[in-house]
Amino acid sequence: MRKNIVAGNWKMNTTVQEGVSLAGEVMAALKSTAHNCDVVICTPFTHLVPVAGVIDQNILGLGAENCADHTSGAYTGEVSAQMVASTGANYVILGHSERRQYYGENNETLKAKTRLALDNNLTPIFCVGEVLEERENGTYNDVVKAQVEALFDLSADDFSKIVIAYEPVWAIGTGKTATADQAQDMHAHIRQVIADKYGKEIAENTSILYGGSCKPGNARELFAKPDVDGGLIGGAALKAADFMGIVEAFN
Ligand code: PGA
Repeated sequence: MRKNIVAGNWKMNTTVQEGVSLAGEVMAALKSTAHNCDVVICTPFTHLVPVAGVIDQNILGLGAENCADHTSGAYTGEVSAQMVASTGANYVILGHSERRQYYGENNETLKAKTRLALDNNLTPIFCVGEVLEERENGTYNDVVKAQVEALFDLSADDFSKIVIAYEPVWAIGTGKTATADQAQDMHAHIRQVIADKYGKEIAENTSILYGGSCKPGNARELFAKPDVDGGLIGGAALKAADFMGIVEAFN
């Protein structure tokens, strides 16, 4: 069966020292609290090596927030999937709406990034989600379907290694969460899109996380929905107590 996962997305927050301290707090809390899901933190590139040094990845997984769409070479400022893997990280967020919106990421670059992540044994947390206008004009199911279909060049074996995160852009960092029913409807839609391509078994085994203003106060209701398999957490991942409050929503 599919895994339940709570993953933190730290975005461009914390210094290395603050990040190491936060990771240490989350690690300590996980050791002393029973939890019924996989827990992952995705940090800035600069933090990966020192954070890897203070966590036990059997208890707390580690990931990057992005990787390059090329293998290596003359791409100043980029960080490759191989480099990310060499830090000890096992996950990478790909296609976050902020990367799509501010850095021009599209299906082509994301196909390349996904291929490289998989080739380097990183688990992609692949983000999809509609903007407010698409929610309001009713095209959101088609928009998200097209985003998921960017992965459909993958073999069934490779696709089964992907984690999907549905993050309605209008809910990210806005305090405006999708209702649990809206999340459930979209997650069920995504699972059907996957089933139509790869079959029911792979679809049932794919973890689909919800992201967008997920907090301790709403996580339990969201995670109670049958197709919501956890969360990708931004703001609330920056305080260990809030993040743990979301993790504990699975208890
Ligand atoms: P938020 O961000 O929890 O701060 O809304 C979620 C995300 O962008 O991954």
